[in-house]
Amino acid sequence: MSSPSSFPLIFLCCFLLFVSSSLGKTTTRPKALVLQVTKDAKTLQYVTQVSQRTPLVPVKLTLDLGGEYMWVNCERGYKSSSYRPATCGSAPCKLLNTTACDTACKTTTRPKALVLQVTKDAKTLQYVTQVSQRTPLVPVKLTLDLGGEYMWVNCERGYKSSSYRPATCGSAPCKLLNTTACDTACYSAPAPDCYNNTCSHSPSNNIANRGTPGQLGADVFTIRSSNGKNVLRVVTVPRLYFVCATNWLADGLASGVTGMAGLGWTGASLPAQLSSYFRFDRKFALCLSSSTRASGVVFFGNGPYTLLPNVDASLSLTYTPLIQNPITESGFVGDASPKYFIGVTSIKINDKPIKFNKTLLTIDEEAMPKNVKKVSNVKPFGACFSSKNIGSTRLGPAVPSIDLVLQNKSVYWRIYGANSMVEAKKNVLCLAIVEARKDFRPRFSVVLGGHQLEDNLLQFDLSKSRLGFTSSLLGRSTTCVNGWLYWKGNWRQSKMEAGIESEE
Ligand SMILES: *[C@@H]1O[C@H](CO)[C@@H](O)[C@H](O)[C@H]1NC(C)=O
Ligand SMILES: *[C@@H]1O[C@H](CO)[C@@H](O)[C@H](O)[C@H]1NC(C)=O
Ligand SMILES: *[C@@H]1O[C@H](CO)[C@@H](O)[C@H](O)[C@H]1NC(C)=O
Ligand SMILES: *[C@@H]1O[C@H](CO)[C@@H](O)[C@H](O)[C@H]1NC(C)=O
Ligand SMILES: *[C@@H]1O[C@H](CO)[C@@H](O)[C@H](O)[C@H]1NC(C)=O
Repeated sequence: MSSPSSFPLIFLCCFLLFVSSSLGKTTTRPKALVLQVTKDAKTLQYVTQVSQRTPLVPVKLTLDLGGEYMWVNCERGYKSSSYRPATCGSAPCKLLNTTACDTACKTTTRPKALVLQVTKDAKTLQYVTQVSQRTPLVPVKLTLDLGGEYMWVNCERGYKSSSYRPATCGSAPCKLLNTTACDTACYSAPAPDCYNNTCSHSPSNNIANRGTPGQLGADVFTIRSSNGKNVLRVVTVPRLYFVCATNWLADGLASGVTGMAGLGWTGASLPAQLSSYFRFDRKFALCLSSSTRASGVVFFGNGPYTLLPNVDASLSLTYTPLIQNPITESGFVGDASPKYFIGVTSIKINDKPIKFNKTLLTIDEEAMPKNVKKVSNVKPFGACFSSKNIGSTRLGPAVPSIDLVLQNKSVYWRIYGANSMVEAKKNVLCLAIVEARKDFRPRFSVVLGGHQLEDNLLQFDLSKSRLGFTSSLLGRSTTCVNGWLYWKGNWRQSKMEAGIESEE
């Protein structure tokens, strides 16, 4: 009885009574429960371990024979989808005999990352996302623009909001756009795009190749948060700045789309505004789906980026420096280009370097197997082949891979058939590379299009000025589609487990 080990046993016996009486009417009620207790060599405390939270994690506790209740350090990474606070005055509070009530919590938990669903529009092949904006909130469809300076929205199509705020000339948001243009007076009724003393900028629609001035303003904006495994709750940015555009500017955008989401390298782009408001690293990742029937994602913030079947794609990133181009497309030296550039030192096809001043379109002479027949070109492509003798692999059509060799020989971006070839018409595969227009100044050596980026995870890490890329995820037996579906599925699953009804 007086041996040291009897002490915890007595305790356990009392604890058991409490637990079993609170279990209620469950039919398969355990008759007894047990905890292992160890004596800590250093502190001589009696320590036990329980499991808690969703997903379950082990939690070590010191036994306190006279303690009123269990307490746990919530500052040390407490994460659980099933945690429920006890509302003031509820039965659990009465159990503690407490009338203390926290009416407002000062430190709201900030999301670590945000996520947007991206679908490929079947007709225009634009990558389209949807956000919510304004008061009351309305859904707004936007075409992604990787090199776009900021978000712009058509304000001519029934923009109504009680929370819209114009940006006064010379204010900090105007400086963010590096604009000195100021609309001093607008002679219609005040409305978004018609305020006095408001700064303006010229958003561009590079699909329709047009630009026109519009006013800068801010409005409420909502987006889903994420932890890279689940799509989580909707969070709000009270003032997200964007430029108002017109019906004319929105020409050529996919059906239902009323603006563009600029993801470029500026201080006003969507990634820049979201990371500064939520205070996470200025980083975003793009995973575009090749299918028009299933979605890919844009992910703002740090990884993981978990794709089905439980592949954390952030672990397979190879990095290359992002290069700032001091010249915009218009050839204007001053503002840096919002577009992302990487340094390609050579291009290899089937591991053989091609001479740099030859056009990529010589791929047919160089590298295609002899039995693959060249057929007449399908515009706009310059190298088309009969697909008859081209095999099919997990990585797309079995054609020579193209390597973009980057900062040194061992760092290259390998482009496989799925990203290098398109089916231009039945039984005809074309190299999905078109010659750059030469009437533009300055000319870019190589521009990677959406097709080259599909089912690749790309991370634009602006805090470290580098681009992370995975090469084709198909080689890892996953795709970008698995991101959204998997996370969304996880979210439903965790809510079901926690007994919450689905929002949708
Ligand atoms: C709860 O608090 C009240 C007033 O402080 C006291 O009278 C009562 O005995 C307490 N009940 C318990 C169960 O501790
Ligand atoms: C802008 O100022 C002018 C001149 O003061 C005024 O006539 C006009 O109504 C104002 N416009 C708006 C939108 O407030
Ligand atoms: C803003 O413009 C000035 C001059 O036009 C230029 O020197 C500066 O680099 C620009 N800043 C950004 C962020 O583009
Ligand atoms: C490479 O470019 C130079 C100058 O533009 C030209 O003289 C030369 O013939 C080109 N070589 C090939 C192999 O195309
Ligand atoms: C090539 O670049 C990578 C990343 O910058 C670096 O880790 C590696 O050591 C470099 N290799 C050589 C041979 O320079």
